[in-house]
Amino acid sequence: MTPTLRLPYIRPTLSRLNQGPVNPFRLGTSPSCPDIDGISVPELTREHGSPLFVFSETALRDAYRAAHRAFSRRYPDVQFAWSYKTNYLNAICRVFHQEGAIAEVVSGFEYEKARHNGIEGHNIIFNGPHKEKADVERAIAEGAMLQVDNIDELLHLGEITKGRTEPLPIALRVHLSTGVQTVWSKFGFSGDDGELQQVVRRILAMPQLRLVGLHCHIGTFILEPEWYRIAAKKMVALALNAEAMGAGPIRYLNMGGGFASHARLHFQYLPPEQATPSMDRYAEAICDTITAEWPQGRTLPKLYLETGRALVDDAGYLISTVVAVKRRTLHDPVATALAAFGKNGPATVAGAPSQNALVLDAGINLMYTTTWYQPRILPVRPCLDAPTPTTVFGCLCMNIDVLREDAPLPGLTTGDQVVMHPVGAYNQTQSMQFITYRPAVVMTGPGGQVHLIRRRENLEYVQEMEVVPSHLQNPE
Ligand SMILES: Cc1ncc(COP(=O)(O)O)c(C=O)c1O
Repeated sequence: MTPTLRLPYIRPTLSRLNQGPVNPFRLGTSPSCPDIDGISVPELTREHGSPLFVFSETALRDAYRAAHRAFSRRYPDVQFAWSYKTNYLNAICRVFHQEGAIAEVVSGFEYEKARHNGIEGHNIIFNGPHKEKADVERAIAEGAMLQVDNIDELLHLGEITKGRTEPLPIALRVHLSTGVQTVWSKFGFSGDDGELQQVVRRILAMPQLRLVGLHCHIGTFILEPEWYRIAAKKMVALALNAEAMGAGPIRYLNMGGGFASHARLHFQYLPPEQATPSMDRYAEAICDTITAEWPQGRTLPKLYLETGRALVDDAGYLISTVVAVKRRTLHDPVATALAAFGKNGPATVAGAPSQNALVLDAGINLMYTTTWYQPRILPVRPCLDAPTPTTVFGCLCMNIDVLREDAPLPGLTTGDQVVMHPVGAYNQTQSMQFITYRPAVVMTGPGGQVHLIRRRENLEYVQEMEVVPSHLQNPE
């Protein structure tokens, strides 16, 4: 006789069904962001004004430590270099330098900034397609790691180092096809069609230069770690090939940056919580591949990483205030065209749909990255009504100044505050002074401190570089 299987009895439970936006009573709860790092948002703006950029020092350090941990537990010799162009506010750079990052710069200006932040030349990786002669000379004198981008730069380096008794160590930037939609072929030499080997041959004819490293940066916001596996495999093959040709030894491989933050691309289907790979997945793809491909028994090359956005983006917030509330008509281009060509001549489209719209006191001049990403926009005060698609306009007198076409927001009113996140990568460095002054930037400390790290701009700052010819001076 087959024994009967008796499952344990589970008592049924009743729980309230919260359907959010489709709740028939329109009583959803909208997510809100009343504080940053435990400090209330109104308190931050009371002291430093609105709009206001806020960076969490704890989040910066946590992101760095997590990234370093992921790589260093898989690879014996890892060094992170802070990518200055991602965010070169000195306070931000110094947090990463304190954590152990060296500097990666792409211009003389960034080089000077890194030196100003206490980084010695030999701890600076100098990238970029255009390096001024004086900057290259300084970098050589100070022992910086030069990563050559193009043949003109290489020939120029050959010229200025002629007669050196000790060869100058250099690295070459390589571009590779890995799966990234458009190969970043603007930079470096192709690693796929023999161009790199030709360049290695040229270096072999220049006794004053020695190839010691290879660098690639396959793109940015790479959501597929497997592309790094392909890149790492190709980099090892190229390094071993260069050595076989007589160059090297290749002491380091630099895999650049490109790891994704928790931003969300326009048209990205999955939310960042699901789409953004963990640092472990990037580390595994890179470290395991180099270890597997490198000849057994030989010391592994040093691994450099120049990750930018994945370390700083999620730590940055922009607080802004609603200055006007509108309804926005959504024009259907087909209906509009039909109406325009209709019998009765141009006409408005009756009953065109419309949606809520807000005007904020911050514009896209501060949020350059909205071209590619949709920042999350959260109200500061908790709201009971359900979120509806809302157009979020910036404050500039420009039609293109739209921060979000349809952010899910509850009904907000003038004076309400919102927080945009994540905004820590590239917005600072690429923001421009346009129409308004750029706002202050603060950093919240782990003990609830608020440090001002960039003052709000003023007329004097903006006009500092201007010169008014004498015949246009104001009369005395
Ligand atoms: C050479 C190089 N390294 C590192 C970075 C940082 O990239 P990401 O912010 O995507 O990590 C960049 C940015 O494009 C770069 O050009």
